[in-house]
Amino acid sequence: MRVFVTGATGFVGSAIVPELITAGHRVVGLARSDAAAAALLSAGAVAFRGSLEDPDSLFSAAEGSDGVIHCAFIHDFSRMESAGQTDLRAVETLGSALEGSDRPMVVTSGTALIAGRLATEQDSSGAQSPATHRVASEHATLSLASRGVRSSVLRLPPTVHGRGDHGFVPSLIDIARRKGVSAYVGDGSNRWATVHRFDAARLFRLALESAPAGSVLHAVGEEGVATRDIAEMIGRHLGVPVVSVPTEEATDHFGWLARFFTLDVPASSARTRARFEWEPTQPGLLADLDMAHYFEQLQVA
Ligand SMILES: NC(=O)c1ccc[n+]([C@@H]2O[C@H](COP(=O)([O-])OP(=O)(O)OC[C@H]3O[C@@H](n4cnc5c(N)ncnc54)[C@H](OP(=O)(O)O)[C@@H]3O)[C@@H](O)[C@H]2O)c1
Repeated sequence: MRVFVTGATGFVGSAIVPELITAGHRVVGLARSDAAAAALLSAGAVAFRGSLEDPDSLFSAAEGSDGVIHCAFIHDFSRMESAGQTDLRAVETLGSALEGSDRPMVVTSGTALIAGRLATEQDSSGAQSPATHRVASEHATLSLASRGVRSSVLRLPPTVHGRGDHGFVPSLIDIARRKGVSAYVGDGSNRWATVHRFDAARLFRLALESAPAGSVLHAVGEEGVATRDIAEMIGRHLGVPVVSVPTEEATDHFGWLARFFTLDVPASSARTRARFEWEPTQPGLLADLDMAHYFEQLQVA
């Protein structure tokens, strides 16, 4: 298949590209800069110049493809609503290019749509979702199934980990380094689901190849790692004390990350595993942290 991948230069997308190529697909990646285009070429993909803010580029690239994986997102946590609107427009544009063709379109979302209990693939996102910026895109993706697109939603947990991670966990490490303590909030029993980027990449490929129209998949390797365990691993590697921060002081301590680090967002992938014969094979988050590359990277930076 000739697959158009948005976000192909990102942490997750750059694992999807070799996964697709190794399986015999050709990859066309969205590139908004010369550096991105060069990175795609050296990964064995073709670069298609455009951006999320340029619907014509998205439409043309999707129209010329046999399938789409949409993995780009504007990660500006100070304007998530606007980023969500851009994402929705991108989903609608990509979907309209594939309409009536039965071609596959896999759209990235998040499992942190339900808090306080185990989220499953059968849960739908809605007003109660902590990750509100994903809700409209999920609904738009699933509605494409009735317009002749083999659309699916692939939900990622709040932490996708592995070498090159520049998401929440490196931010926690950075805060612990600057504050001289590795903190969790309250008793630290709130949980994050996790997945390794290579396991997630394999599921993106399986969804592209075989997910029925209207499917929701969960790329969850571990259902829930307690945030206290994450803080303890960070504290051990940095050699700093591990402390509890009261909930009312979480924002002072963690800044924008408090909104996420206080969530209890365990998630299941039982249905995904059974349906797609997908079994994670990579290390879990704590084992990955214990391999120390998270801390080496920060020292180099
Ligand atoms: N990593 C995680 O822990 C995690 C957890 C849950 C969900 N997710 C979701 O998974 C997806 C991939 O995440 P990631 O960690 O791979 O993100 P990332 O490393 O920050 O990469 C973001 C990708 O989006 C592209 N992009 C950003 N703004 C763009 C724009 N305006 N136009 C075109 N492309 C643009 C970037 O291109 P450039 O190379 O040009 O910057 C890059 O390829 C996102 O939807 C993210 O929200 C990630």
